[in-house]
Amino acid sequence: MEWKSKIQSLKEEISQYKIENKEDVEKFRIAFLGTKGKLKMAMGLIAEVPGELRKEFGLLVNEIKNEADSKWALSKNAFEHQQEATQVDFDLTAPAYHSHLGSLHPITKTKRRMVEIFERIGFAIFEGPEIVNDWHNFTALNMPQDHPARDMQDTFFLTENLEFLLRTHTSSSQIQALETEKLPLRIITPGRVYRNETISARAHCTFHQVEGLYIDEGVSFADLKQCIYYFAKEMFGSENIRLRPSYFPFTEPSAEVDISCFICDQKGCPVCKKTGWVEIGGCGMVDPAVLQNCNIDTTKYNGYAFGMGIERIAMLYYQINDLRLFWQNDMRFLRQL
Ligand code: PHE
Repeated sequence: MEWKSKIQSLKEEISQYKIENKEDVEKFRIAFLGTKGKLKMAMGLIAEVPGELRKEFGLLVNEIKNEADSKWALSKNAFEHQQEATQVDFDLTAPAYHSHLGSLHPITKTKRRMVEIFERIGFAIFEGPEIVNDWHNFTALNMPQDHPARDMQDTFFLTENLEFLLRTHTSSSQIQALETEKLPLRIITPGRVYRNETISARAHCTFHQVEGLYIDEGVSFADLKQCIYYFAKEMFGSENIRLRPSYFPFTEPSAEVDISCFICDQKGCPVCKKTGWVEIGGCGMVDPAVLQNCNIDTTKYNGYAFGMGIERIAMLYYQINDLRLFWQNDMRFLRQL
């Protein structure tokens, strides 16, 4: 059975054949699978095989052919892209470019920080529209037509009849909440507001506020003070606040909230204008007239409100002395925060 050992050694030869590159793949194909290849020659051996063993012979040759076929296909696949991969025309040792990840704007970060603090003590977020009518921005807030307090906030009116305007404070959303939500109510209204002011280092025609409103039975001024105190402590780590009597048409009594200047440690600096204190917002007990405007029973309910500018808080937090920087989107500025 010489044919059998010939076939065996061919099988051996195929499996031992080393294919190390693209050229070897082709050499292998010609040597074994080509029309004059060794497999063709092996098939010719059939003449030497007696009839009863031809079936066994056929199976054996077939098996070897399959092995050779798959060895060729696998190597072809493996070395096909070899050339392209080794002939790159760029410098693999060059340093990589850095891709820069974007980040949140400092105003967004400050807003989230503020919202988080109030959420921790039970305030829910209530967001209203930026375009409002006179009622929500002024009249319901105890500022009827011709009320001098309307001049405290220079307004962008949107219609000739002065009916629609860009809200000058988010207190307009608080009126909407009082009209639509169930009592007791404990909300903050973060959002953007607009005032017709000359742009300077300390003022802009658009800025952001977080205002709070708490209406329940038997709310006291002490509750308000504690809430502001908690905020100052969480936001700035400063427990030193003071409430200065002030006036707002929608609160009575009203106060301005100051925090001791942690930039100069009350020694006096440009931020606190050498007073040792910086103002962070306004607050007060909601005037019953406001609640009555929203059909709320003032023999049962009362509450407090407060309002703060996010830019102002951010300026103190990051110790920035010019509010306009927040709007210029100068990467050199933003990258520092
Ligand atoms: N709405 C006031 C403002 O924008 C701030 C404020 C809110 C004051 C609530 C007192 C109470 O100036």
